[in-house]
Amino acid sequence: PTIRLADYRLPDYLVESVELTLRLHPTATRVNARVRFYRNPARADEGAADLRLDGRGLTLVSATIDGVPVPQNALTEDSEGLTVAAAHVPSAFVWEAETEISPETNTALEGLYMSRGMYCTQCEAQGFRKITFWPDRPDVMTTFRVRIEGPADGSAPVLLSNGNLVGSGEGWAEWQDPWAKPSYLFALVAGDLRAVEDHFTTASGRDVLLQIWVRPGDEPRCAYAMDALKRSMRWDEETYGREYDLDRFMIVAVDDFNMGAMENKGLNIFNSRFVLASPETATDADYKSIETIIAHEYFHNWTGNRITCRDWFQLCLKEGLTVFRDQQFSADERSAGVKRIEDVLRLRATQFREDAGPLAHPVRPTEYIEINNFYTATVYEKGAEVIGMLRRLVGPEVYRKALDLYFERHDGQACTIEDWLRVFENVSGRDLSQFARWYSQAGTPRLKAETDWADGKFTLRLSQTTPPTPGQPEKAPLVLPVAFGLLGSDGSTLEAGLLEFSEAERAFGWELPERPVLSLLRGFSAPVIVEHEITPADRAFLLAHDSDSFTRWEAGRSFALAELTGPEGEPDPAYLAALVAVADDPALDPAYRALLLSLPSEDEVMAQIAAVGRAPDPLEVWRRRRALETAVARALGDRARALYDSNVVPGPYTPDADAAGRRALRGRALAALTALDPAGSVARAQYASADNMTERMTALSLLVSRGLGKKELAAFHSEWRHDRLVIDKWFTVQAALTPPETAVETVEALSRREDFDWRNPNRFRSLIGAFASGNPAGFHRADGSGYRLVVDWLIRLDSLNPQTTARLASLLGTWRMFDPGRQALMKAELERLAARPDLSRDTGEIVGRLLRGA
Ligand code: ARG
Ligand code: ZN
Repeated sequence: PTIRLADYRLPDYLVESVELTLRLHPTATRVNARVRFYRNPARADEGAADLRLDGRGLTLVSATIDGVPVPQNALTEDSEGLTVAAAHVPSAFVWEAETEISPETNTALEGLYMSRGMYCTQCEAQGFRKITFWPDRPDVMTTFRVRIEGPADGSAPVLLSNGNLVGSGEGWAEWQDPWAKPSYLFALVAGDLRAVEDHFTTASGRDVLLQIWVRPGDEPRCAYAMDALKRSMRWDEETYGREYDLDRFMIVAVDDFNMGAMENKGLNIFNSRFVLASPETATDADYKSIETIIAHEYFHNWTGNRITCRDWFQLCLKEGLTVFRDQQFSADERSAGVKRIEDVLRLRATQFREDAGPLAHPVRPTEYIEINNFYTATVYEKGAEVIGMLRRLVGPEVYRKALDLYFERHDGQACTIEDWLRVFENVSGRDLSQFARWYSQAGTPRLKAETDWADGKFTLRLSQTTPPTPGQPEKAPLVLPVAFGLLGSDGSTLEAGLLEFSEAERAFGWELPERPVLSLLRGFSAPVIVEHEITPADRAFLLAHDSDSFTRWEAGRSFALAELTGPEGEPDPAYLAALVAVADDPALDPAYRALLLSLPSEDEVMAQIAAVGRAPDPLEVWRRRRALETAVARALGDRARALYDSNVVPGPYTPDADAAGRRALRGRALAALTALDPAGSVARAQYASADNMTERMTALSLLVSRGLGKKELAAFHSEWRHDRLVIDKWFTVQAALTPPETAVETVEALSRREDFDWRNPNRFRSLIGAFASGNPAGFHRADGSGYRLVVDWLIRLDSLNPQTTARLASLLGTWRMFDPGRQALMKAELERLAARPDLSRDTGEIVGRLLRGA
């Protein structure tokens, strides 16, 4: 059934407190829930109401109300829960139910499940109903007391839940969380685990015990996560005035996990790939993700947990804000300019892509079938962009005041986007009713700019349109904060500032001493696609002189896209000269130089071609991108070798931004050298001598992408065959980078290996996901064999793990972009998937929208 925002109703019953007792057993865990319910006072005048509790896959053993068994005829059970007839429900009562569940056979990894012998939970969004009967919605908040009794065989000596440890003994532990929370923040972990410990003293002097729980042997790989955690805690105090509120903060690393991590109160559960790192096993990119995700989950303690969402339509309330906060954190800890470009690249690769296809939806959706399908780039990344725009419009001081008011006014509540916007209206005195459209209107706006220079006056004419998206044919103008600069011929700033553009079209004018060069949408101040005809000369000028690091980089990017999508020929010498100038400029931060020197991804090029109404040929895109890489390498000439030699990072590996930036630049240099060296000798040498995973992976990636590296791949595998996270990389590098001629066969062969443990989400994504999302030329092979291979595997996974299957199925969402032949093949595969008799609700919803949507 479709759930609609418009149908929201306050809960009939609220919960005063709950006591849970879980007696763990792999296939027969007993869950006893003692719940103090009371009639919601806000609905009491409606009289008695049925007690409706959500529950899925539970075996009900017993149920009592105030100690009396609920009579058979008063209780009805269905596949989604149970109902007790109103006549048997007092206005305040104790409900006690015993249920039985089987964590070992829970392959969906939602609710209570087992991962390599360890018990763990994932309750967001609706996993708690797979543990016990419950009003499983975020606006029902209560305090939890949890007693865990370990499995009889003693295999799980460590027993964890939210809050404070209030008692423990041989084989049991009791936890009490003093903070009321919704059920989606409940967590339990039990296993043979070891803690790496540290302490943090909060601004007000509270001592917090920090623990990262991992499998025995993984302790040495926790140092970076712990460091990131402490920096996050300090940063949230300094930047948002937010202190931690319990005596203990725990993180657990789990190998089988559907997503990145989960912010359960006081007990964050992480996919182990976003906790464990050592220089030999993790790359700079891994360290960066760990830092961001540790911060993200920690920041949820205030934006998500202390203030939560009224219903799941409000998901962006916590996710958009928390992503925005983790982006600010990483920008502060590293280079802000580089971070902004990385965030924009991610937004374009995921969110713009979502907007361009049948899955387009507003930041706050208005309906869903399966809420797990709405943990999307639109809710997360565009949700964060909307907050960034708000901050730009009101300014940083007002933004901080609004956040202070938000925390003060709404602490302990389950809130809506209206609550959020109201604090900004109250603090700034602005009317945000038009701005609020950002939450309800789907699609990527096109911002068109035209300029004119006459009689000493420069005119900028802006217009905006948003193309139709499924279910939203008409679009209204949005409030666009447009940061800009006007540059003089010597590179000086003639004018700069922020335009608030909220009409369908409008002209802005300036009297100036000379014709300026326009630097538009500085800092990517709004999540739009800019349509602005710019001459190669102006592009080259911006690439050389723009003081805004985003628009400067963007000038180079638009150069490259023009090369890759326009008529084929020798690259524009002005572009190559500009790149050489960048490579030569020692004043530029190496990480930034590396970004300037890298070419747009194949996906980016294809999206650009589709945007002008043509069908991209993935193979052609791959070939032309290769050719441009070679041309750039030729233009760089001896500089590539010089850059490579001069950017060696001395001393032992450290993951800090400076060292990582130099390695990134050196990696670009190695790519250029490899483009001109059919034997890949420099890459081979680097692979052989590297003492860290970053440089090894850079070399291995280049070799594999050139059809080389057989020997290195074999050596890599035998060295790391016992390390799951490292072997994931081994699968990924081949799936994503094997050249198109042999990609499908390579992935097929890899999928037949014994160590392709496809039930593990990381491993499945490392091969099937990496191929479908990272190797367009291979995946879109014209004979359809790439599609068939992926859909075969999705069918297989769906019966076990709907969530991960649905997420990967959305990769087929671009099918309408391609030529009729590929469209027919992709559609046929989607229909084959849709026709599966027992397709999950998750995958069914996605595939249905892919086939239906405009
Ligand atoms: N709240 C988690 C986070 O953003 C993610 C939970 C994802 N849940 C899901 N059902 N996909 O950190
Ligand atoms: Zn989150």
